[in-house]
Amino acid sequence: TIQSIKARQIYDSRGNPTTEVDITTKDGMFRAACPSGASTGEHEALELRDGTSQWHGKSVFKAIKNIEEVFGPAVMGMDVTDQKAIDAKLLETDGTPHFSNYGANAALPISMAVARAGAAALGKPLYAHLGALSGRTDVMRTPVPCMNIINGGKHAGNALAPQEYMIAPFGAKDFAEAMRMGSEVYHHLKSILKKAYGIGSTSVGDEGGFAPPINNPRAPLEVIMEAVKVAGYEGKVGICMDTAASEFYNKETKMYNLNFKGEEANWISGAEMADMYMEWCREFPIISIEDPFDENDFESFAVLLAKVKAAGLPTQIVGDDLTVSQAERVQDAINKKACNSLLLKVNQVGTVTGAIEATLLAMSDDWSVMVSHRSGETEDVFIADLVCGLGTGQIKTGAPCRSERTAKLNQMLRIEEETGMPFGFDSWTA
Ligand code: PGA
Ligand code: ZN
Repeated sequence: TIQSIKARQIYDSRGNPTTEVDITTKDGMFRAACPSGASTGEHEALELRDGTSQWHGKSVFKAIKNIEEVFGPAVMGMDVTDQKAIDAKLLETDGTPHFSNYGANAALPISMAVARAGAAALGKPLYAHLGALSGRTDVMRTPVPCMNIINGGKHAGNALAPQEYMIAPFGAKDFAEAMRMGSEVYHHLKSILKKAYGIGSTSVGDEGGFAPPINNPRAPLEVIMEAVKVAGYEGKVGICMDTAASEFYNKETKMYNLNFKGEEANWISGAEMADMYMEWCREFPIISIEDPFDENDFESFAVLLAKVKAAGLPTQIVGDDLTVSQAERVQDAINKKACNSLLLKVNQVGTVTGAIEATLLAMSDDWSVMVSHRSGETEDVFIADLVCGLGTGQIKTGAPCRSERTAKLNQMLRIEEETGMPFGFDSWTA
C-alpha cells in the first residue's frame, strides 16, 4: 500500500520544468517523471503549467501541489498492485475525463510510480507487470526501434516542415542487431549530410536526429536511403515518417503550408498531400506515416488509408494528434476508418490504465500500436518496459543519440538480454 507520496520539479531534455514523483511502500521508494510534447495535440489531457513570469511560464508548482495535496491524499493507503483502482481514483478525484482540473502531469507520474511499486510488490520486473496488467503476457516482445534520424517541424531550427524521418530496422534478428543497424546508418547519414550540405548540417534536433538545412520534404528520404544503401541494409530497413501536419494547417482555408518555417509559403490541399504521400510510398520503403493531416481532418486520413490499401502498399497510417491515446478518439477513428495504427503516449491520457485501454481498443480493430516518447523527455525509461510488456512490436524513442533517448533504447537491450523475448513486428518482414 502507498505510505507516502512526494513530488518535485525537475528539468526535461529541453531544459523546461516537469514533474517527478516518489512513492513509498513497504518495499521501498518508486520514482517516475512526466514527459512533455512540443507539437502537442489540442485534444491531449491537460499539461498544467503555472504561467507566471518565471521559467517562461512553464513551472509546474501547481501540479506539484495537486500531487501532494489532492491526488496523494486520495490514493494514500491504496493497494499498489491494483493499478486500475488507483487510476480510477485519480480520474474520479479530478472529476473530468482528461484531468482538466489538476493536470495529467500531476496524475501520470503517480500512475507510473504505482506501476513500479506494484511490480516490486509482486516481485516482478516492470515489463512483466505491465504485460500482466494488459493481459498480454504471452505476446511480450522487444520492438522494432523506429529511430528518428532527421528532425524538422517544431523539433528543429531548420526550415523542414515534416517533423520526423525515422528508420525502422525490421529485418534485424533481434533488438541488439536492430540497434547496431540503426547506429551504423545514423553515422553513415552524418557523413553524407556533411558532404552534401556542409558545416552545421549535422547539428541535432530535440530527438537526436540531424537537423540539416533542407526544406524540400522529399530530400530527407533520398539521403536516408543513400545511408541505408552504404550501410548495406537495403530491404532490411524501412522508413517511418511523422509529418505532424497539424502544425502547418490553416483551419480557415483547409490548406497545408509545406514551407511553414521558410520565407515563402507553399500551400497545398489535403488531396494534393495525399497524392504526394502516395508518390513517396511508391518510390521509397515507407512503412509508416503518422499524422499525415490535421488532427481533426479525419476525412483526409480516411482517403489516404483507402488509397494505400487499394494500392496494396504495406504503409500503416498512424494517429497521434488525431487520436491522442484516448479510447474515445480511437473509437472515433475506428468508426471513420481514418487510420490503422495508434501512437501511444502515456501523458496524452494521463494514466497507465488509460494507455492500456486505448491500446486494447485499437488492437480490437486490428490496428498496430507504436509506443512513443515525447520530444521533451527525462531519464525515466518507463516506456521501454511498457512497449515490451504490451508486446506491440514498435516504439519510437528518438535517434540512437542523446541520453534521454538512448536511456530507453539501452533499457530494451537489457530486457532482451535478461529474457531473450522475441523481437519485432510480424507484418514488417524483410
Ligand atoms: P511531441 O512530438 O512530443 O513534440 O508532440 C512527438 C510526436 O509528434 O510524435
Ligand atoms: Zn506525432
